[in-house]
Parts: sequence; C-alpha cells; structure tokens
Amino acid sequence: MRLKLTHLGRIVGITVSLASCLTLIKTVEAVKKEDFKTCSQSGFCRRNRAYADDALAQPSFKSPYIILKDSVKLGDSKVYAEVKNTETDVLLTLDLFILQDNTARIRINEKNPIKPRYDDHAQFTIANQLIDSSVHKTSRAKDGVITILLDNTNKRKVIITSEPLRIEFIVDEKPIVSLNDRGFFNFEHLRTKESHKPKMVEKTNDEGAIELVEAESEKDLWEESFKTWTDPKPNGPESFGLDVSFHGFSHVYGIPEHSSSLSLKETKGGEGSYDEPYRLYNTDVFEYAADTPMSLYGAVPFMVAHQKDMSAGVFFMNPAETWIDIVKTKPEQKNTAQKAFSFGKKVEDTKSTQTHWMTEAGVLDLFVFLGPSTKDILRQYHAITGTPSMPQMFAIGYHQSRWNYINQRDVLEVDSQFDKHDIPYDVIWLDIEYTDEKKYFTWDIPKFPDAIKMEEELEHKGRKLVTIIDPHIKRDDNYHICQTAKDNGYFVQQPSGGDYEAWCWPGQSSWVDFSSPAAREWWKSEFGFDKFKGTRENVHIWNDMNEPSVFNGPEITMQKEMIHYGKWEHRVLHNLYSVLTHYSTAEGIKERTKVAQRPFVLSRGFYAGTQRYGPIWTGDNMVDWESLYYTNPMILSNSIAGISFSGADVPGFFGNPSPELLVRWYQAAVFQPFFRGHAHIDTKRREPYLLDEPYRSITRASLRERYALLPYWYTLFFEAHKTGVPMMRPMFMEFPEDEALFTTEDQFMLGSGMLVKPVTSEGTFAAEIYFPGDQPWYDTQTFEKIQHNGYKTVEAPIEKVPAYYRGGHIIPRRERARRSTSGMKLDPFTLVIALDNKGQAHGELYLDDGETYDFESGAYVRTQFIYNNGVLTSKNLHEDPSSDAATKYAASIKDVRIERIRLLGVEQPEHIHVVHPDATRTPVSFEYSVATGYLTIKDPKTLVSQGGWRIEIQ
Ligand code: GLC
Repeated sequence: MRLKLTHLGRIVGITVSLASCLTLIKTVEAVKKEDFKTCSQSGFCRRNRAYADDALAQPSFKSPYIILKDSVKLGDSKVYAEVKNTETDVLLTLDLFILQDNTARIRINEKNPIKPRYDDHAQFTIANQLIDSSVHKTSRAKDGVITILLDNTNKRKVIITSEPLRIEFIVDEKPIVSLNDRGFFNFEHLRTKESHKPKMVEKTNDEGAIELVEAESEKDLWEESFKTWTDPKPNGPESFGLDVSFHGFSHVYGIPEHSSSLSLKETKGGEGSYDEPYRLYNTDVFEYAADTPMSLYGAVPFMVAHQKDMSAGVFFMNPAETWIDIVKTKPEQKNTAQKAFSFGKKVEDTKSTQTHWMTEAGVLDLFVFLGPSTKDILRQYHAITGTPSMPQMFAIGYHQSRWNYINQRDVLEVDSQFDKHDIPYDVIWLDIEYTDEKKYFTWDIPKFPDAIKMEEELEHKGRKLVTIIDPHIKRDDNYHICQTAKDNGYFVQQPSGGDYEAWCWPGQSSWVDFSSPAAREWWKSEFGFDKFKGTRENVHIWNDMNEPSVFNGPEITMQKEMIHYGKWEHRVLHNLYSVLTHYSTAEGIKERTKVAQRPFVLSRGFYAGTQRYGPIWTGDNMVDWESLYYTNPMILSNSIAGISFSGADVPGFFGNPSPELLVRWYQAAVFQPFFRGHAHIDTKRREPYLLDEPYRSITRASLRERYALLPYWYTLFFEAHKTGVPMMRPMFMEFPEDEALFTTEDQFMLGSGMLVKPVTSEGTFAAEIYFPGDQPWYDTQTFEKIQHNGYKTVEAPIEKVPAYYRGGHIIPRRERARRSTSGMKLDPFTLVIALDNKGQAHGELYLDDGETYDFESGAYVRTQFIYNNGVLTSKNLHEDPSSDAATKYAASIKDVRIERIRLLGVEQPEHIHVVHPDATRTPVSFEYSVATGYLTIKDPKTLVSQGGWRIEIQ
C-alpha cells in the first residue's frame, strides 16, 4: 500500500512535476533497507573491513605502521612521534596528550598532506578548555617502548610500542584499552589520481593463467555509485580505521542512534550477532525497523565498556560517516602476532570486546577515559563535550503535538479540552502545516489569523507553543528568508558553484550552511520577535529534518560532494550539521529577549555536544508494542552517550494505537526524560482526553504522576547539568557489580532513587522485576515494602506501572493537581522517605526560577534531606548561601513549605515533633498504616528555603 506522507493537495497547489511530487510520497511499508547502504556498498567501510579480514587471516600479520625512533619527543604530559607506513613510506604525526581526570587524547594526522584534512569540527565539539594533567613520569626504553605513568601510585599507565605502533592503557597492571592491538590501523593518505599506484593482486584468468589485476578495493577509490547516485569523490580515498580493544570487558554501550539493544551486539559472527557494523551517519530512516545496527537520525561516536570493577570509554571525535564492528573474544583467540604484544601480563579469562572503527575522512582524534566508574567516565566525557543544558521547568512537563493542529481554533480547542478533563500539559505544538507553503518563519494567515492572540491565551494558562522550523528553505523569489540566504551565500553550494537545490517538504529547496559563521549569525537573528512575526516569549522551536533530510538525495540525505563554508565537502562534517542547526536556533531563542530565557529547541538530528542545546527524540517510530519496547534501550543508549534529554513519540508516530498500547506508552514515558505525544497526519486524533474510560482516567493519572515527580526530575536534570550523569540510567550504572544487570534494558533507574519496569507487551498484567542490592524497595503506588534480591514477579494491572522507591533515598514530589508547571511554582512539597535496613535515607531538592539563567549566579535553593535515627534534618548545599542572588531567590519562595512527609518502612511512632530554627518545638499530627507500615506526617510547616529545622519521630 502506498500512502502520501503529507497532504498532496498543498504540494500540488504549487508548481511541481509529477515526478517531484512522487519524491514527496513515502510508503507506509516498513523501512526500505535497500535505500540505505550496507558496509559493502560503502567503499571505505568495505576497504577497512577487508584490511581487518586480511590481517586476521594471516597468522604472521604485522601492522606496517612504526614509530620513527628519532622523531619521538617526550613532554611533561604529551608525546609526539612520527609514524611511518612502511608499505607506502607515508609519514603520519602522532600526538598523545594526557589530560585531566584520567583522560588521554590521541591524534593522528598526515605529516605532509597534499591539502589539509578537516579538523574544524573540534571547535564545535570541545566545549571546555582541556587541561594537561601533571604526569608523574614519562620514560623511553632502549627498545623504543614509551611508558607514561599517569600518577605516582603506578596504578595507571600508558605504554606505546614502536614496531608496530600500538598504544595500551594499563590499570593495576592489567591492560584495559589498547589501540592497534589487532593491527587494523589503516590511514589512507591524500593523493592525486595521477600519483596513485593501484594495488594489484594476482588472479587466474579464463585460460587458467595468472595475471595481475587491480584489487577489488580500487574500484571505488575515485568514484562511488549507490543506486542512481554517483559520488565523484574528488579527494579519492581518505578514510582511516583503527581497532580499539577493551580487555576483560564483555559489554560495551553507547554509540547511538540505533534501534538496538543497550548492550551492543557483535557484528561479525557470534550468537545473535548482526551481520553489519553499527553505522553512524545521520539519516531520515522512514519507519525504521527495530533491532538493527542501521544508522538513524543521530550519531555519537562515544562508547562505554563496563565490567564488574571498572569502566572505560572512548570518544572517536569525528563527524564523518563512521562504521563500528564489534566482536567478543576469549584471550586465547588472539593470533600469534598479537600474543607477542601482551607484555607478559595476565588477562582475565573473561570475554574481551574488540571494536573496529572506520571513518570516511578527517583526522583521527580519539579520547580514552579510564573512569574508573561509569559515572566517572560520563564526567570525563562531559568535561570535553560540555554538560547538558538546564531546561526550563515547562520543558520537562507534558507536550501535546500532532501533525497537525489545523488552525488557531483547533489549538485553543485542544488546549481547553485538557482543562475540561483535568489533564495537565504544558506545551502545544505546531507542525509544518502552520506555515505559508512550508516557508518557515511565516504563517498560513487564513488558518492562524492572529497567532499572537492564540499565544497570549496559552500564556494566560502558563502554557507554551512550539513551532517547527526546518533547515531546508523553499526556493521562492518572494520569500525573504530564501532571498537573504541566496544573496549572502548562506546556502550549501554545489561543487560547480551555485546553491545546492533538492527536494524536501516545500518542494524545491536549499539548505542553510550552518557551518558558516555568518549564516549562523543571520539564522539566530531571524528568531527576533521583530523578524519572526507572530511569535512572542512563550513560543519555542522544533528543528526537524536536520540530518539533513533530502527527499531526492542518496540515502535521503545530502550528496557528500556538496560544499560548505571553507570549501569543505559535506562528507567531512555530515553528522555535525544537525548540531550546528540546533545550536544556531537555540542561540537565536536565547538572544531574542533582553533577559535571556533558557531556550527550548527540540532537534531530530544529533551528534556529540547536542546535549548543550536541548532535547532530541527518536523520530518516526511505529505505533506497535515492539517500538514501545525499544524506547527504553534507545533512550538508555542516548543517556549513556551524553544525550540525556531524549524521548520517543508517544504512543508512536505511524498508526493508530489500541487504548491498551496508548496507556502503557504513557505510563512508560512518565519516567523518560522528554515526554511528548505526537502523531502522523494520517492518524486518528488521540489526545488523552479522547480516550474512553477507564483509559482516560488511567492516562490522566500517569500524567499527574509525571507532574508530581517534577521536583525529583528537575533535581536530576540539575545533577546531569553539573556532572553529566543522566536522569534515566541503565541498571548497571547504579549497581555496577551485579553482572545480572549488564544486559538489562527493560527496567532502569530514574536517578539513584527509583527503579522502573514499564510494561511493554500486550495483554501483560504482571512483570518480572530484578530487584538488586540488599536494601528494600517500596512500591510507589501502594508503598508496600519489597525486601528481595533477584527476580520477583509482581502484579501489573492496566492501571499500574511497576515503579519502586529505593530504600535509603528521599524523593521530593509536588502532589497538587495543576493545569501546567507554571501553576506549581509555589506549591508545597511532599517528601517520600524510603528507609533502608538501617532506618536511614537521604535525598536532594534543587529549585530555581525554572526559566532564566539567574541560577548560574546563585539564584537557587539546593537542599539535602537526611534521615537518621528517627530524625529528619536538612542541609543547605548552596555554594554561597548568603549571596544576594541566593537570599533573593530564597525570599521569593519563602512560604513554600513541606506539606507532607511519607515515611516508608518505619515502625509506628508515638510522637512526632518539629523543632523549628528558633528552637521552638511543636507536635505534628500523623497517620500510620499498620497494613503496609508507612507513616504520613501532616503539614510539619517546615520551609524548603530555610535550613535549621528538624523533625523528630519517636
Ligand atoms: C518528520 C518528523 C515528524 C513530523 C513530520 C512533518 O517526519 O519526524 O515528527 O511530524 O516530519 O513535519
């Protein structure tokens, strides 16, 4: 069946050929895999994979790359050396930097390239000043082996061997990570076609004689075809490959975006393995399939390996197309040549994970992080790429979207229906149809005659509007955005000169070149209220199609030979395009008001660093149970790769959900960071208020639970902003020693204080949950205590999502039902105190104005709650509590109090008293549930902005 993806009527309304129209039509069959390359259809992937296969096939294989001994320079925290390819005599430079906090950076480039290789992306990706560590000692032995001791305990060191080149990271005498261990390092130097000597191989011809013919790998060096497209590859081969081995690690994670498992699968044989490498190449994959290593909308070349007592990470900083093979081996499976490199060290008899990274162009620039824990790795990675920005409070409420709310009346009607049915929501969204013929920054005036009035009405209820702005610009001489971009050279260019033109939603379009500083500045300015007419402060933005999606381009994206600022080919920066779009839009939103508000910009494409600009979502998923299942591993993989603010279309984009699927999807999304209902234009309306009972009430309860948990969510967002540790966490991040959790992807932790196991299969009303650790867990709905270690089956009727408080943690909540987050600003708090076996618990509450950047200068409250020995106290964690900003903010919430405390896992007390800061002691009333053993303390009248009180439970 073929169905139009958009309403063809409007497209036909403009002058387009039938053929072009057909380009805009997509099928509703599952993904067309043949539209996307396999490794063997991608020249550089095939060449590098073949290189690796050759190396493995020859027992005596030795990597041809050696360090030239006389070139070595040892600095305090760096090593420089020249590396020679002994087969081609081409020289490379190797720079190794030892940075702060157990981090190393390795760069390899050509020494004398015939022209520079692309390196400018680093300025966008590296967010912070890199700090050299003061290394204890660097030495070089007679055989050329260089040893760098990272600290004076001899615990961590790097060993660089010369012939062949090999770099190994050692912790406690055990090799942890090594580079070129298997000899797959291969660096294709730039060359001219004329100077290129083709690789020849022997082949038996038809007459049985042996003749020399060009090797298979020569085929695509200077031109490459895929389907009807030919990539002219003016620079010829320029890729590189490197193997990275994680010794003793059975599991690796990260490298999103794939609709795949959390623990990454093998890609070259092995049980349940894929037969293709994981691919990182931002693409608009229509109706993507589940459980594949195919690339999707985003790409983060950052991988984390974890074993019981340590984690390690690598960040392969390069935005060009990259493929990653993963195999897992026992140590004895190494070939003889590789065994010779083992420095006589003992390798545990667990599996090791060996990865092979293959990148199309640019410079090899790799960071290695030695943790030791996963949380440490995330801190180290974020010290390079920047921590996630702090969102506005509304951004973490519920968003209601669909393609499309058709007019102003429709928007306000949907808005009022939420209120009528007492369902909270914060943001309503407008998809592409709000524009005049998909000309972004314009309105379809007949449908939206007074957008400002509509926005004011939303504002009146404290709500926001998000409008979509895509990076493709309709070619139209009467369209000011197109004209300005055309006149100033802000569009991506064709190799032969002139604006690149192709097809997207508006028909014939050009793409803004966000790698150009001038184009970025211009784009930012277009969000000014005087420019983007019809918008005001409560309007925020959605950047879609920024992979970029090009309907009639190869693999639905831009041809690699197109030209960006600085004459760089699109090839070298493809995966960076989306983050540059996202950045420019977010900055535009930030700059449009006198007092900067934290921007909200949702992006579909992403790359390392995206976390600094806003959330992403997992694109055009299906309305089916399998897609619901995959939301969890996908968001967890994003989280572990620094993209912590992400979510999926709820309850799926394509198709119409059954009420059961819708309810289960909403229940899951309560605990996923970005929560937006969205739907394809051909779907039936499915706003939660349209559901029949009991589904409507169940969904309302889910949304209310999301809102009740916002104080906890917001505190977790602040933690992520400070440390990079994500809100939604794989189980192993909290229980790093429990090997049973290393592949767990259907249950997860929200912060360190909650465990969630969404129901993701049809007709399922029980859940098998793994309860780790030796502390109790408490059901978030019944408060029932679960003292259990290991698997346990619990009931999960349709109205219940299994979620648990972890013993030892205090969770802040706000339980008054409101229309949106703005109505909650001065609401009192409820504290849930889930006691551990020693009767102790602790937790945090972070609060600020939820809108501006004043928190950066101290306008926030950060309180730690500690429960010990029957006494609850609070501790002010503010860095400078007596500063003007701190006191001013505290004064603005001076009456905000704790109105309820729920103590779980406690004996019935006799008295409860509050001791106020002025030492007055007042009794407080309470209720105790004997059946479940929980206590509710009523209105202790303690203020959140004021420390010095305590509650005594005796
Ligand atoms: C893309 C987006 C989808 C949006 C549609 C129309 O398919 O992924 O969310 O509704 O474009 O803009």
